Amino acid sequence: MLEFIPLLDKNNGVPIYVQLFQYIKQKIEDGTIPEGSFLPSVRYLSAQLRISKNTVDSAYQQLVAEGYVASRARIGLIVLPLEQPVLSSILQEIKHKPKVLLDNKAETFEYDFKYGDIDVNSFPHDIWKRCLTKALTNEPDLLLNPGERQGDIGLRRELMNYLFQSRGVNCSEEQIVICSGTQHALSLIIQLFSIGDRSVAMENPSYDVAQTVFNNHGWSIKPIRLEQDGIDIEQLQKIETKVTYITPSHQFPYGMVLPIQKRLSLLEWANQNSSYILEDDYDSEFRYQGQPIPSLKALDEEDNVIYLGTFSKSFSPAARVSYIVLPQNLIDVYNHTYVNYNQSVSPIIQKGLYIFMNEEHFTSHIRRMRKVYQKKHQTLINALNKYMGRHIEIIGQNAGLHLLVRIKNNMSTKDLVKKAKKLGVRVYDPSFYCLNEKEIEPSLVMIGFGGISEEKIDKGILLLQKAWFSNES
Ligand SMILES: Cc1ncc(COP(=O)(O)O)c(C=O)c1O
Repeated sequence: MLEFIPLLDKNNGVPIYVQLFQYIKQKIEDGTIPEGSFLPSVRYLSAQLRISKNTVDSAYQQLVAEGYVASRARIGLIVLPLEQPVLSSILQEIKHKPKVLLDNKAETFEYDFKYGDIDVNSFPHDIWKRCLTKALTNEPDLLLNPGERQGDIGLRRELMNYLFQSRGVNCSEEQIVICSGTQHALSLIIQLFSIGDRSVAMENPSYDVAQTVFNNHGWSIKPIRLEQDGIDIEQLQKIETKVTYITPSHQFPYGMVLPIQKRLSLLEWANQNSSYILEDDYDSEFRYQGQPIPSLKALDEEDNVIYLGTFSKSFSPAARVSYIVLPQNLIDVYNHTYVNYNQSVSPIIQKGLYIFMNEEHFTSHIRRMRKVYQKKHQTLINALNKYMGRHIEIIGQNAGLHLLVRIKNNMSTKDLVKKAKKLGVRVYDPSFYCLNEKEIEPSLVMIGFGGISEEKIDKGILLLQKAWFSNES
């Protein structure tokens, strides 16, 4: 039997039957309720949701009237195939979805400045193996149990302390939810707002994965311009939206760090506008210049910020572990919505990570990785300055594992990427992350340095100089 867990809010001005109708309609449109399924009986659903039978009946009548379901004698309401107009509007939507970066695995490059890789040689394999073995030896039940719904309590407590010390986030363990990556975290959050306006403001350009998640959930994206120091708050203030996704510690992909004054204005606006801000703090551990700035969540006195963190940069993207810090005011809604969901990250991995943090390996690992990345970062900056000097401009170099470079040789980004490829060097086109193609800045390339050795960084940049500035190439 289909289980419905709509978030019905008596105080939001929309009649409950309309909210229920919209919830079921959305589930039919996105395929969660497939063609041929039977809706629960009116009596069953009214008892389950503790609303009147009339309310359920009205929602069902509306679904019948709009052709989503039909009555079958003595059985109930059956979900019909999606009508062509609905299907074609979905297909139409797909056309506007962000481009997909084809993972061209066949193509390998001697010098790959890929974004997203970490330094594999520094990964503490032996310690991690010991933590996993300990987890299994001390708690063999982990193999037989799905674990706590919000995530391992020990891991959540470790995260609570870590976030307080490193990011100034003051939260309780009830506010923390463990997820299997940022896209999973975003999907969970989005579904908390499935009723009412489904639009999100995003920096332009912004993280492609987040764009895809919003698109897949049928949300519309409102692009917000970037200024030298991050999101244009004045433009944001003019836009009607209750949710904003932002990367304030290291704008993705431009790399600027949102200054404290802008953070405070953003929070004030969110509070006055009763909006939520989704703060994606994906690589805050690695900062090379300037004073550390507290996270937005640390400054969020009115509880408008939903914080997203990940172990993908600080530990390994293969762990598939990330976390949400919910505002207090969303804890009940979260628990109500996901009451019968299981935790998605294996308890074995979570317990291993708990031990890794509890025995202080995580702190030492971050300390060590800061030095590793600092050296790579310095090598990259030195090489860029040494080989291309005044012919380039480096953008967003204060933090993270990538930066952008503006190449002043009148070539388009496409040509820059092509020429580099010819010499065995891969650099990336940041316009891929733009929300509207017209705003693409020419002559910019994206260079990731997490996974490439210092030696290769230097050689790779020298080759780029040849590719872009020498007449022979
Ligand atoms: C902006 C941004 N957010 C989050 C992440 C991490 O995503 P996940 O936790 O799914 O690995 C990345 C990783 O590359 C990123 O670039």
